[in-house]
Amino acid sequence: MMTKTEAEQRLAALRAELAYHARRYYILDDPTISDGEYDALFRELLDIEARFPDLISEDSPSQRVGGAPLARFTPINHRSPMLSLENAFSQGEMVDFEIRLQRFLHLDTPLIYAAEPKLDGLAVELIYENGLLKVGATRGDGRTGEDITANIKTITAIPLRLTGRVPDILEVRGEVFMTTKGFKTLNDERLRGGEPPFANPRNAAAGSLRQLDSKICASRPLDFFCYALGDPAASPCRTHLESLEWLQELGFKRNPHVGLCRGIDEVSAHFNYLQEQRPRLPYEIDGMVVKVNDFDLQNRLGSKARSPRWAVAWKFAAIQATTRLVDIDFGVGRTGAVTPVAVLEPVDVGGAVVRRATLHNEDEIKRKDLRLGDIVLVQRAGDVIPEIVKPIVERRQGTERLIEMPDNCPRCAEPLQRPQGEVVSRCPNPLCPAQLIRALIHYTSKAGLDIPGLGRRAMEQLYNAGLVNSIPDIYKLTAEELAPLEGWGEKSAANVVQAILASKKVPLSRFLAALGIRYVGEVNAQLLARNFSDLNALRQASREDLLAVDGIGAQAADSLRAYFANQAVNAMLGQLSALGLKLTNEESASDLPLADKSFVFTGSLTMSRSEAKARIKELGGKVVSTVSKKSIVVCGAKAGSKEKKARDLGLKILSEDEFTALLKGNLQLLDDN
Ligand code: IVH
Repeated sequence: MMTKTEAEQRLAALRAELAYHARRYYILDDPTISDGEYDALFRELLDIEARFPDLISEDSPSQRVGGAPLARFTPINHRSPMLSLENAFSQGEMVDFEIRLQRFLHLDTPLIYAAEPKLDGLAVELIYENGLLKVGATRGDGRTGEDITANIKTITAIPLRLTGRVPDILEVRGEVFMTTKGFKTLNDERLRGGEPPFANPRNAAAGSLRQLDSKICASRPLDFFCYALGDPAASPCRTHLESLEWLQELGFKRNPHVGLCRGIDEVSAHFNYLQEQRPRLPYEIDGMVVKVNDFDLQNRLGSKARSPRWAVAWKFAAIQATTRLVDIDFGVGRTGAVTPVAVLEPVDVGGAVVRRATLHNEDEIKRKDLRLGDIVLVQRAGDVIPEIVKPIVERRQGTERLIEMPDNCPRCAEPLQRPQGEVVSRCPNPLCPAQLIRALIHYTSKAGLDIPGLGRRAMEQLYNAGLVNSIPDIYKLTAEELAPLEGWGEKSAANVVQAILASKKVPLSRFLAALGIRYVGEVNAQLLARNFSDLNALRQASREDLLAVDGIGAQAADSLRAYFANQAVNAMLGQLSALGLKLTNEESASDLPLADKSFVFTGSLTMSRSEAKARIKELGGKVVSTVSKKSIVVCGAKAGSKEKKARDLGLKILSEDEFTALLKGNLQLLDDN
């Protein structure tokens, strides 16, 4: 048992170590330990904190996972106002900007500017007291923002404690944003869970910071760049660029594309550089912020009512063009959502030919009042999908036609459904060909049955090869069919067939989650499995029966009823049972053949250690590293001291061949001879 003093010491060491590695990983992008090692340290910390809750400190990395939900955000007055920026749209306006500055300062030489990307996220203010993050706030109206500290603390790129010498109070400003990749992943997840996707990374970041439940914010891929000090005079820096470097030393992330420019010609060159970089950047930017670099000059220039005189935002022009809307294609996404896509007369928009534009959903067609044959304004910003801004109503001829929404699924002809309050129509047929591949991928994925070897890529391959067109097809796969496929071989084919076989016995909750029924994720699946004795009971459950389960809402109940009412679904469930699928209620490891058995490996095996480990785990056993009285020792080639120890102790010893046979189900090998 650890004493409190020991716990305190160990926690301090762990926090320092975790902070160091978090900085290497999140800020410097240059980790020196593996994710697994980091997780192990983190778990140790959580474990000690759980035993000594009064030792949890504000800057403990455990505080990043989010705390209890808030009832509301409290207002926070900014110490100095968070100003906005004036916009410029051309080099001419930038020249005017410099002339204004020179007149104001009575200068006739070019000024020195820092020019940096204008990040498309949300401005936040962070307040550190004695190096410790105390408050994170939104900009609000510039004077009063909202206290979002709990959410801010979940963002790994924001340090909880600063390194080095810092003023007693430090106000740091910067942008919270979501990378384009994080945004795509989040939206994919939301679509899979039946939630509406975010329109763009900015909205996704804003929506995440607005969560009263910081655990939700913690699950969102948010990032941060610092770009200003609240009060430069409180810092040892004389210029903006120096302040960015200083902030970086304190532990912040800053944007790497900041240019130091003398005069507007150099500013302009940096603008071109950023415009060129833009499609390659992993986050969205909508222009460039140009700041007078020298803090003394900034002070002399001061601010107008809402924006400083010493800075300006040079915005990228959205590239636009006009063309004719020829047709609307209705596509069906992998979630069954029907999405309209505009078919356009091909047009050059800033160097790229645009033929199609997204319309997001039907309401957007109505809101924009689009008609077939309209001349429309199209816009392309960065590498995002082109969109229709508006129809040019003045150019209508009277021959334009209203756009009709389909009543039936364009892929499988099933009547579409549009639940009240939702913006998308959906094909309710879970076996619609458009949704099939997604359903198949989900079924074998980690969130589903978790069949090793049948990840996304493999499922796409099997689907494209025509080997798997339905869930039951998975159980009909043979090693002979799989082995010749590209990237496979006899061994991997045999392993997968074995894994499929092993997955036939599956807890009801897991199976339900694997089916990908809308509104039935892992949590609801478990609720259902606990409340219904078996699948048949669930299939026959009335809406009321379902609603009687604590935690199951109307959406899930309706979705389940619709799912089990589907003919094709019932046919599929019948097939699965005929193929030998056995649903167990209650996931119990003690039913598995290797339950309570622990294995030790020594020497080198043909099979990788991680595979051997995974296979043992599947069968309910575990793998340990030291030989004890109860171990079963598997000896590969050149087995070492462990083999000797095992012989001395008279333990069960298996050769690799015997071990493989054991995995195939030959359990007699474990019997005492
Ligand atoms: S400096 C007084 N730098 O632009 C100047 N702002 O209109 C304070 N923004 O809401 C802002 N990138 O969220 C600055 N590199 C950058 C920026 C940036 C984006 C946003 C900021 C603010 C808005 C100002």
